Amino acid sequence: MSIISKDISKAVALLSKEEVVAIPTETVYGLAGNIYSEKAINAIFETKKRPFFNPLIVHIPSAENLESIVSHVPEKAKQLADTFWPGPLTLVLPKQECIPDLITAGKDTVAVRVPNHPTTLQLLSQLPFPLAAPSANPFSSISPTTAQHVESYFQDKIKMVLDGGPCKNGIESTIIGFENDMPIIYRLGSIALEDIEAVVGNIPIKNKSETPKRNKAKSHPEAPGMLDKHYAPATMTILSDNISEDLKKYNGKRIGVLAFQNSIENSRILHQILLSKTGNMAEATSKLYDALHQLDSLNLDIIIAEIFPDYGLGKSINDRLKRAAHGS
Ligand code: TXA
Ligand code: MG
Repeated sequence: MSIISKDISKAVALLSKEEVVAIPTETVYGLAGNIYSEKAINAIFETKKRPFFNPLIVHIPSAENLESIVSHVPEKAKQLADTFWPGPLTLVLPKQECIPDLITAGKDTVAVRVPNHPTTLQLLSQLPFPLAAPSANPFSSISPTTAQHVESYFQDKIKMVLDGGPCKNGIESTIIGFENDMPIIYRLGSIALEDIEAVVGNIPIKNKSETPKRNKAKSHPEAPGMLDKHYAPATMTILSDNISEDLKKYNGKRIGVLAFQNSIENSRILHQILLSKTGNMAEATSKLYDALHQLDSLNLDIIIAEIFPDYGLGKSINDRLKRAAHGS
């Protein structure tokens, strides 16, 4: 029997019994549990095969709950929350003492957001505790944007996927941390960089080289979502700014193409997906992971992905494509 269900009261019952439930958000599906339940949080790490040094995001029903989670809110954090919540913005702030170390990987900061999905907002408002929820995928693989993606990853390893339809935004939240009360981007995401800068001015992007190639086991990056190999399909993936030219290099291979707007006429391509025929970046973002899931299921030798224009959401898409291609 399918674990997919639209029954919010069933999700409330399971979560109240310290079980793990996959939940919809506007970005990607999350694997959720009571932040105060050691059993539930351990089950999340175990199910994902996620290393314990990688902390979780706390999901709250409203900005009014923020002060029960964090101990200090810089002015710019407040402006960002006022502008983007509910929505795909995660703030990393000093934690309240009550937040368990298991959630924060022992750090004195905690990541928190108010997701913008009607089903999950309803769920959160019916629970007496916040939900910790990493993306509902095995560690390093592509994040799920439909209930079916989650089911195909975990089958009966979890009891329920709360179905909220396909995720509207389609890539993870933008994560912003603070140093001396000044914001820094830890992870590009569903909000275009320009839209954030319109609120708080110029904002630096945390240096990715924090994940040294040598000595990987010892690296504890500020936001391990920034690990190079992340969001990756199993199929070898390469990036291209000239697909027709690059096709020549892979003669005799089973090739899939992921392109932005314009299709490429070439008989070497077995399967081609266009992310937005009208050149709309938001549409392309929302379809990105489903397209990677589809291409990855076709038993191809190689996926060639077109590099996006490097502004707006294109910048976030390029960030994910680079990670998908890493190591290939
Ligand atoms: O859109 C999203 O953010 C989704 C949905 C389900 O909300 N969640 C998500 O969670 O992407 P996850 O666990 O896949 O990514 C969370 C990222 C990780 O890279 C983690 O390292 C970072 O947030 N993070 C969490 N707590 C942190 C902290 N205290 N300091 C720095 N980074 C933190
Ligand atoms: Mg993730």
